[in-house]
Amino acid sequence: MLAPLAGYTDKAFRQIAHECGAEASVTEMVSAEGLARGSDKTGALLERFPGEKNLIVQLFAPSADPVERCIPQLMEYNPTAIDINCGCPVPKVVKTGAGSALMKTPEKMAQIVRVLKRETGLPVSVKFRLGWDSSSICFLEFADAAYDAGASMLTLHARTRAAGYSGTADRSAFRLLAEHMKGKNVLLFASGDIFTPEDAEDIISNYGMDGVMFARGAIGNPFIFRMATEFADTGSYRIPTIDEKVRTAIHHLHLAVEYYGENVACREMRKHLMAYIKSIKGANRVKTEISAALTEDECREALMKLCNEKHTNQ
Ligand SMILES: Cc1cc2nc3c(=O)[nH]c(=O)nc-3n(C[C@H](O)[C@H](O)[C@H](O)COP(=O)(O)O)c2cc1C
Repeated sequence: MLAPLAGYTDKAFRQIAHECGAEASVTEMVSAEGLARGSDKTGALLERFPGEKNLIVQLFAPSADPVERCIPQLMEYNPTAIDINCGCPVPKVVKTGAGSALMKTPEKMAQIVRVLKRETGLPVSVKFRLGWDSSSICFLEFADAAYDAGASMLTLHARTRAAGYSGTADRSAFRLLAEHMKGKNVLLFASGDIFTPEDAEDIISNYGMDGVMFARGAIGNPFIFRMATEFADTGSYRIPTIDEKVRTAIHHLHLAVEYYGENVACREMRKHLMAYIKSIKGANRVKTEISAALTEDECREALMKLCNEKHTNQ
């Protein structure tokens, strides 16, 4: 799956991930309060790309109250499943009691799960961390509370809130969680430092998890979904060529232009385009041109230079 990534997993990127073989993707985190208040900006995050079958919406909220109030607006988008963010470490979110702050108040998380189950009847999943910090590791108890409240999928990001995105994810926690939940009817997903097909295969084969979420490993590299599937099926995988990277970047840009207009797309796509080309020889000059580009044509012309130069793949 493509993990929820604020500022990244909009419908254009979810469509690209789907075309590259992702089984499902999660939206960026969406404020339940914003949705309840009818914010257009919040609602736009929930739009499907044409043909998107499964829409997994991630909500963040400090308690069940805004979640209950946002349900009429949420249901207008006909989601397939709803995920609750219990992992966001950003101070602006945490200080309201949402994101990883819910790890300190598991009863509030459980109440959110129960309200969503009761009011929507949809599958509910919970994405959480090891705990607030290394002295308050609580992921097993947290998983129990989510499961008892009715969650049908759990995703563990194997870091604490205090670790943010630094250090290495503690893979051994996946095995502890899998053993702890054995025999229970719940899907277990892993998150944290999953960058290669080998990482995914290792976690599924050796740590007992049902699936993995690619997060930073999919930015500029949606090919990871095809590579991971090929590796699981055949034991080897094809590395994308420079042409494939550039073609995919141009297609991604085109989708963004179609969905958001040229102005917004050229600005918002810079981070994606930089990531697509980052390991290609000659990329630095092209990056400068992309930063200055104001139109789709200018971006495309800059990107095409990397193909025309026929560098060998990195
Ligand atoms: C830029 C960025 C935005 C993220 N946004 C979200 C989010 O909206 N919701 C969420 O649950 N996790 C979010 N995450 C966490 C990722 O989904 C993932 O759990 C984390 O990056 C660990 O995976 P990785 O080490 O493979 O990147 C975000 C991470 C990054 C780097």
